[in-house]
Amino acid sequence: MSAIDTYVESNKDRFLSELLDLLRIPSVSADPKYKADVARCAEAVKQRLVEAGADKVEVCPTAGHPIVYGEKIVDPAKPTVLVYGHYDVQPPDPLDLWHSGPFDPVIKDGMIYARGSADDKGQFYMHVKAFEAMMKNGGLPCNVKFMIEGEEEVGSDNLGVFVKNNKARLKADVVLISDTAMIANDVPSINTGLRGLSYLEVEVTGPNRDLHSGVYGGAVANPINVLCDMISSLHDKDRRITIPGFYDAVKELSAAERTALAEAPFDLEAYKKDLGVNDVLGEKGYTSEERSSIRPTLDVNGIWGGYIGEGAKTVLPSKAFAKISMRLVPDQKSEAITKLFKDHFERIAPPSVKVEVRPHHGGEAAVTPIDSPAYLAAAKAMEETFGRKPIPTRGGGSIPIVALFETELGLKTVLFGFGLDSDNIHSPNEKYGVFNYLIGIRTIPRFFQHYAAMMGGKA
Ligand code: BES
Ligand code: MN
Ligand code: MN
Repeated sequence: MSAIDTYVESNKDRFLSELLDLLRIPSVSADPKYKADVARCAEAVKQRLVEAGADKVEVCPTAGHPIVYGEKIVDPAKPTVLVYGHYDVQPPDPLDLWHSGPFDPVIKDGMIYARGSADDKGQFYMHVKAFEAMMKNGGLPCNVKFMIEGEEEVGSDNLGVFVKNNKARLKADVVLISDTAMIANDVPSINTGLRGLSYLEVEVTGPNRDLHSGVYGGAVANPINVLCDMISSLHDKDRRITIPGFYDAVKELSAAERTALAEAPFDLEAYKKDLGVNDVLGEKGYTSEERSSIRPTLDVNGIWGGYIGEGAKTVLPSKAFAKISMRLVPDQKSEAITKLFKDHFERIAPPSVKVEVRPHHGGEAAVTPIDSPAYLAAAKAMEETFGRKPIPTRGGGSIPIVALFETELGLKTVLFGFGLDSDNIHSPNEKYGVFNYLIGIRTIPRFFQHYAAMMGGKA
């Protein structure tokens, strides 16, 4: 046991109760009614960084929700780690499916249940506590800067502006982020890629008002029927996306790269059982793991229109809507794909309806190296605490700012996530393991040690 391990063990109850306090703040970035709570959460994060020993801690306002910044420069000649995380969370809906309140955290069977427990409060707060542990046990082996934002779940547009305007302040050698998942608690892994995203909303309008479906049905376009036709035409029988040009920029992985990915353990039967499905479905010629990481996808996230209240109402609605997202891979560009979608969707609309496509947010894919000092330091740290070398895996989710760290700051990222796919992020009953939280707090200081040692004096 290192001094830090002992410190974490003897302070774990406080570390947990501090996290629960953060989880009680409903910092939902997507919904304006939580604006004051989001601001309150930023202040709380600032306070925690100050208490842990950070300098120049500041709540930086943006056109949207604020960014919390803080740093500890022990020696300018030493390397600097930029820790990024997000204190905002996804909306908690549907509320009736939660077993306990999304913002009334409870610990049950070794799991912390609350919105944001894994994504990302429980994960970024490991860094605050790891920082405290280092400060209380001999100090930091290198410099650290914290940037914890409040708009990751809505696309990080204002953080992009902040990064562009604060290049000197954010100068660092590597970015460290805990906001991804591992394969299992006894199979540690490190994500080496994130997908990009293009998210938009479509509105299909038929007649200028709702109509009696007996009087007009069959003779006038029903926008919901038409929208369903249009959406289903976006995939062919092999579940490939039919938008012309969609795959043009997609780089096929080499056979060797695919073989390496297939080495990560994956149990298809357990996967199906866990999700309650009899079979999986996806692009022909690819495995489930490939479909959810290295291949681009298109999904309807929500669809509505017409009558959805109690009982039956015979109506031919005037409008239908859907929210559609595409997950992108290197080197598909989010804006270009959004335009391809918009042009295609407008083109395939029959003349009997009008179509409007409204882009929401986007972000670019990113891949991270597995031979950099930072990756090797992270792998070594995990190997020490888990007793097993982590496996590199490609993740399927998106963290839009990661690509900008590279293009704007010239920085590579290590995705040092300690969650699990089964944590129910964005879902009811989100949870994060007490085990994961505490082992994360113990592993992060080891990363700092190994990284500082590998980098020597300076990059
Ligand atoms: N932490 C997730 C991303 C993630 C989850 C990456 C699991 C890898 C594995 C992040 O908070 C997130 O949810 N991002 C959004 C993107 C955003 C633009 C809404 C996503 O992926 O949907
Ligand atoms: Mn996240
Ligand atoms: Mn998320």
